[in-house]
Amino acid sequence: MRMLLSYITAVLAGLGQIACAGNPLATNDQRDLDALAIDLSQSDAFDFLRDAARAKFISRLKKFGKPIDDDINSDIDVAIDELVFSSIQKAVNNDPAYPKVYWTDAPPRPDHWFGLSVPGGRYSYDNPDCIYRTIPISDKYKYKIHGRRAANAPLDVTFSLISNPNSQNTVSSLMGEDLQVEEDGSFTITISSEDSDSKNHIKSNWQAVQLFVRNNLADWNKDTPDELSVEIVDNKGAKPATNDTIINQAKTNLAESIFFYGFGALDVKTFLNPLNELQKPTQSQILGTLTTQASSFGHFNLAEDEAIVVTLSSGQATYWVLPVYSLGMVTHSPWENIVSFNSKQAKQNNNGTYTFVVSQTDPGVYNWANTTARTQGTIMGRWQGLSTEGDGTDGIEVSSSIVKLSDLPRILPEETVYVDAEQRQEQVQERIQGYNRIHFQ
Ligand SMILES: *[C@@H]1O[C@H](CO)[C@@H](O)[C@H](O)[C@H]1NC(C)=O
Ligand SMILES: *[C@@H]1O[C@H](CO)[C@@H](O)[C@H](O)[C@H]1NC(C)=O
Ligand SMILES: *[C@@H]1O[C@H](CO)[C@@H](O)[C@H](O)[C@H]1NC(C)=O
Repeated sequence: MRMLLSYITAVLAGLGQIACAGNPLATNDQRDLDALAIDLSQSDAFDFLRDAARAKFISRLKKFGKPIDDDINSDIDVAIDELVFSSIQKAVNNDPAYPKVYWTDAPPRPDHWFGLSVPGGRYSYDNPDCIYRTIPISDKYKYKIHGRRAANAPLDVTFSLISNPNSQNTVSSLMGEDLQVEEDGSFTITISSEDSDSKNHIKSNWQAVQLFVRNNLADWNKDTPDELSVEIVDNKGAKPATNDTIINQAKTNLAESIFFYGFGALDVKTFLNPLNELQKPTQSQILGTLTTQASSFGHFNLAEDEAIVVTLSSGQATYWVLPVYSLGMVTHSPWENIVSFNSKQAKQNNNGTYTFVVSQTDPGVYNWANTTARTQGTIMGRWQGLSTEGDGTDGIEVSSSIVKLSDLPRILPEETVYVDAEQRQEQVQERIQGYNRIHFQ
């Protein structure tokens, strides 16, 4: 009986793989790490910190005079649940002697692969375009990252060695445009504390603990993340981390996240800015922003008949994205709501800039960033692929103003693309199909 059961389990697991063939995210390591994270998340070890995280976020909102209604309470609940799960996800793949490739900062995947129902693990301004993957590393070991790029490659790719999975400060990095890819799409990256002449080498040091890989997919219906796997050259004698170690690490992650995101990202980076305005983009290498990225943070409180009109230029950036978030810094169901636009998705003005309307009420323009019936929320624009020299803003501009919806026809550029109900449905369907293709199939 036992043998029959394990045979059936093996067949089912095999079927799971076949069902997901072609999706570079559907790996056995992903399944195993998700399963472990789900199991460990049942522990009551996180209850105290979960409450502390919630209290911290709410205290920041109160400090900045944000009215807290039922919507905000439920948005914060979602943000905290996902933050707790993200802290566990960061911990289950944290052993540099037994590294795996793990897709994190990802949306909930109910009834998904391999029969698992995986909770969301998004935090601190998740980017709906981005597939984030992590690989634990140490300068004690040498690694080979094997990859394969599909014909429709991600628009922007970066491999960053970071010193802490929560503050995510960059130690060194390899940019997608510098990566040497063979004609068949394959590539190998080496990581060690030694120097190398190879272009595909990232030098680690005592500070580096994780390789953080970003694949930004601009055309959701075509672009495909890179296939990735990791090989450790020699881990002889190393014992794998125990579950107790993992739980303790998850608690540390959560405690640090409360500080870095609840205070750093929400308070310092966002709420200190004036309300209903987007700031001039700036570059930074801390708190999860890339060294080659400029960001602009904002927060809003908009009545039903109000909107923020945002106009931006891409400057020298190879990729940009403008998403709207909850006050918990998490996108609201980006798989079905139009809450973000990137350089491929938005309609352009005649002079090459892009104009958006951010509002709860559908203004009937193609470039509508939906606040999903929320009065309050946050916005983060990012521009990537910039040089790390100079002030880095490389011709990027962003301007914004708060207006009445009834004034939009007068204010918006003449060339603005308007949509009727049917065209809006098409736009939503295209989004749903694209998101499903990348994340759920
Ligand atoms: C760790 O926890 C998982 C999930 O509960 C369990 O399957 C596994 O056996 C545990 N590992 C050890 C070494 O106890
Ligand atoms: C906008 O958000 C509302 C509330 O979540 C939702 O019902 C609606 O379908 C969304 N529309 C679009 C086009 O995103
Ligand atoms: C480009 O066009 C937009 C829309 O008409 C306008 O708001 C913006 O000021 C123009 N920018 C430049 C640099 O001319």
